[in-house]
Amino acid sequence: MDLKLNNGVNIPCIGFGTWKMNDYEIAVESVKSAILCGYRHIDTASIYGNEDAVGEAIKQSHIARDKLFITTKLWNTACSYEEAIEAFNKSLEKLKLDYVDLYLIHWPAPKDCRSFYQKRNIEIYRAMEKLYKDGKIKAIGVSNFLKHHLEELSSQIEIPIMVNQIEFHPYYYDEETIAYCQKHNIVLEAYSPLGRGQVLNDPIIKRIANKYNKTPAQICIRYAIDNEIIPLPKSITIERIKSNHEVFDFQLTAKDIQEIKNLSHDHGKIGSHPDMADF
Ligand SMILES: NC(=O)c1ccc[n+]([C@@H]2O[C@H](COP(=O)([O-])OP(=O)(O)OC[C@H]3O[C@@H](n4cnc5c(N)ncnc54)[C@H](OP(=O)(O)O)[C@@H]3O)[C@@H](O)[C@H]2O)c1
Repeated sequence: MDLKLNNGVNIPCIGFGTWKMNDYEIAVESVKSAILCGYRHIDTASIYGNEDAVGEAIKQSHIARDKLFITTKLWNTACSYEEAIEAFNKSLEKLKLDYVDLYLIHWPAPKDCRSFYQKRNIEIYRAMEKLYKDGKIKAIGVSNFLKHHLEELSSQIEIPIMVNQIEFHPYYYDEETIAYCQKHNIVLEAYSPLGRGQVLNDPIIKRIANKYNKTPAQICIRYAIDNEIIPLPKSITIERIKSNHEVFDFQLTAKDIQEIKNLSHDHGKIGSHPDMADF
């Protein structure tokens, strides 16, 4: 199942996360397994240090390039137009690809450019617009952008932002960012959709999982999909890679969705705050 970005490009409604897959062999095998299990959308980043392994897994999988959706991200050290182009070319080379489907600005206000982050984002976004026009990237997006970062950037760019990848799981619902993106036709992606595993023992999630005869992880993944937010579950465990993708034979009711959302009132963000991250 696909969603459509605001430039008409299709994006598979579930992706495979690869953060912390640092071991080359494990990363190659995990991504190959994911592709075998039916994932067609892979999420990596230059900072994950596994673009070469992801590229190798793609190569070994012998799937037609246009059947895969590959995302990578520009790391915080790129603060100028030239640095962004250079970083992108390195990523492309490691991935052994001619283009990527989606290129994201990883963080909006990195520590070392925090004093001039608005200028930095405009400049690196221009580099991404150039890559887009050259056909090197099929879609442009951002990650960890809050409403104010999106507003500051949107007024200064030519090609609209297509995607925002944010933290999203039963324990964290960022109302303001989600509402802004939905209103402005920016597709949302859910990172840490399993709350990095922390949500999976929650009694309410377990009860709902029992009701559907599904695993807690499948409930979290379906919760994102039923909110029209693309989950990016990560696993290096074959049974989990497989079962995390088996979420297309059921749907949560509006009542279950609300009950899961209510969990966020007593919990919160697991990852760093975009304006205060120490990197
Ligand atoms: N843009 C950003 O700043 C950002 C930040 C964080 C993450 N991300 C992206 O989002 C992806 C997912 O987020 P995440 O890696 O933080 O966390 P996550 O997907 O919420 O959770 C991953 C953890 O859950 C475990 N797990 C996976 N499936 C399971 C299952 N069925 N049952 C029990 N445990 C299970 C994994 O263990 P095993 O691997 O040992 O099986 C791993 O420890 C990342 O990999 C990355 O691609 C982006």
